[in-house]
Amino acid sequence: MMRPLRGVIAVSVGACLALLSSCSSPDAPLPEESGRDIHTFSEPEKVRVKHIDLDLDALFDRKILKGTATLTVEKAASSNAPLILDSRDLSIEKVEVSSDGSKFTATTFEFGKPDPFLGSALTIPLAADSRQVRVQYATSPNASGLQWLDPPQTAGKRMPFLYTQSQAIHARSWIPLQDTPGVRFTYTARVRTPKNLLAIMSAEDNPIGLRTGEYAFRMPLPVPSYLLALAIGDLTFQSVSRRTGVYAEKPVIAEAAKEFEDTEKMLTAAEELFGPYRWGRYDILVAPPSFPLGGMENPRLTFVTSAVIAGDKSLVSQLTHEMAHSWSGNVVTYATWSDFWLSEGFTVYIERRIIERVYGLERAEMQWATGRQDLEAEMARLSSKDQMLRLDLRGRDAEAAFTLVPFEKGALFLLSLEQAFGRNAFDAFLRGYFDYFAFQSITTRQFLEYLRANLLSQRPELAAQIQIEKWAYQPGLPSNAPQLRSAAFLKVEQQAALWLQGKATASELDTEGWNTQQWIHFLRYLTPVPDADKMRELDEAFGFTKSGNAEISGQWLLKVIRRGYEPAYPRLEQFLTTEGGRRYLRPLYEELMKAPGGRARARAIYAKARPMYHPTARAVVDEIVKK
Ligand code: BES
Ligand code: ZN
Repeated sequence: MMRPLRGVIAVSVGACLALLSSCSSPDAPLPEESGRDIHTFSEPEKVRVKHIDLDLDALFDRKILKGTATLTVEKAASSNAPLILDSRDLSIEKVEVSSDGSKFTATTFEFGKPDPFLGSALTIPLAADSRQVRVQYATSPNASGLQWLDPPQTAGKRMPFLYTQSQAIHARSWIPLQDTPGVRFTYTARVRTPKNLLAIMSAEDNPIGLRTGEYAFRMPLPVPSYLLALAIGDLTFQSVSRRTGVYAEKPVIAEAAKEFEDTEKMLTAAEELFGPYRWGRYDILVAPPSFPLGGMENPRLTFVTSAVIAGDKSLVSQLTHEMAHSWSGNVVTYATWSDFWLSEGFTVYIERRIIERVYGLERAEMQWATGRQDLEAEMARLSSKDQMLRLDLRGRDAEAAFTLVPFEKGALFLLSLEQAFGRNAFDAFLRGYFDYFAFQSITTRQFLEYLRANLLSQRPELAAQIQIEKWAYQPGLPSNAPQLRSAAFLKVEQQAALWLQGKATASELDTEGWNTQQWIHFLRYLTPVPDADKMRELDEAFGFTKSGNAEISGQWLLKVIRRGYEPAYPRLEQFLTTEGGRRYLRPLYEELMKAPGGRARARAIYAKARPMYHPTARAVVDEIVKK
């Protein structure tokens, strides 16, 4: 019998000593890097945007935002370079410059040749004394960063809804700006809406009641462009604690507030571990089901998909993840998309530390184990160049950074540091790191240098075993990467094996007290996919087709497609026409396209569902169904 595992298994610190050749010298030079973001046209080293003031009308009938963006710029000494902004599908009416912020004079502007990934450079000449640039513009109804929902696509069905999703490089589709994580700026905004709607932003001064049709916001801390966010809808607010609360449409507000009642507990846990929450309030917007992501870490105002509301807090770790970004990503940001793991890897690590503290070690262990399993599957299909923490994205969209590698390999790297140096030392190191780089955007190399100077140097004998170059700059995992097992999953595997081997029927299995993670693990474990009779047996015993839990449905429906289990097809269609998360759409449509007769079914379902999906989700599914 295996002993129950306490904590994740220790990293094998001896492995490297035995294999000295695979160890790295703690002083070896790290690869050069330019720190230049290839996903922006802007040249912040010459002219840098320091503040943006927005004045926008949300015109729901035309599905456009229209108004002005006034950018305060700072020029490098002796530069007479123009201001180069990023833009995508913006129509510009007028550009003016000012030296004092009150008197503006019209100037010329020029659009560069559009690039499929980057949009168009917008070049504005500056006079020697230009300090502010005011751009009068309107967005396109197809702006990649905006989703305009008609009333039937909302929970309340009576009023329209608009929300933004700026990450990765979609801020440029609704604001002309330097759209790079390497530039941080403060912002203020005035937004006018139809009178009966509420507007909220990733900023201070979000309204909690009165609908005036005119709202003002300010973000006094410098943020990168991908964290700019706006939502407008028939929203109500419910307080959760002194500094946390939920915005949602009326039909979901009560269940949302209940689901997220542990928000304050999690925030406090994070502060105890990693230092103060620096943003003031922490509110949550429950985004409509078409929201293409699990969540988005907009400062002060996390967006989460309504699919997270399972009724039993079982999917709350998606919220924990976005909250964790309040430290990793939002306080310390990556300078380029190649350094994206500095945000996501740290965040997955912090998320699991918070989960462990609030919900216990067993649940955290399950997430680590699932993460490791997912990472291995993902790496098996990725080219070696995409298996490095520091990514080479030349010639590709910034979105290409979004694989499990930055998330799970990044988190595993930090876990290996924690295990080698001990929690106390590692936690102190992380607190120091957030202080040291607070409100800056940094590269992988800057992090690794800081790591060497502030942690590795304390214990050179351990440092050699960590192989930081392997983690950051080489494919795969170092041989001594942490191995992760979960005792709770072992139980699941034992029961699943009994059933797969025909030693027990589904209803005879001991599934008492299993949580959602365990059920998901059970489903994932069932390979090869059971035949149709066995699928029916499972469904009768456990009611998977009826499940209202999006993660369980997602897993089950994959099997349903693979096995052509007809009784669940209506549920599949319902799921794909009401749930817009890319994490579900991609695998399900891919699976459908592989199944006999599946292509026609995929296209028929997609024809109905497409109008509901977000522009970026449509782009993903368009690619899949055209094959
Ligand atoms: N910041 C990401 C979302 C993102 C990444 C959007 C890259 C665009 C480009 C967010 O924090 C995230 O990781 N969301 C995950 C869910 C999370 C629980 C792992 C998602 O939506 O899959
Ligand atoms: Zn994230």
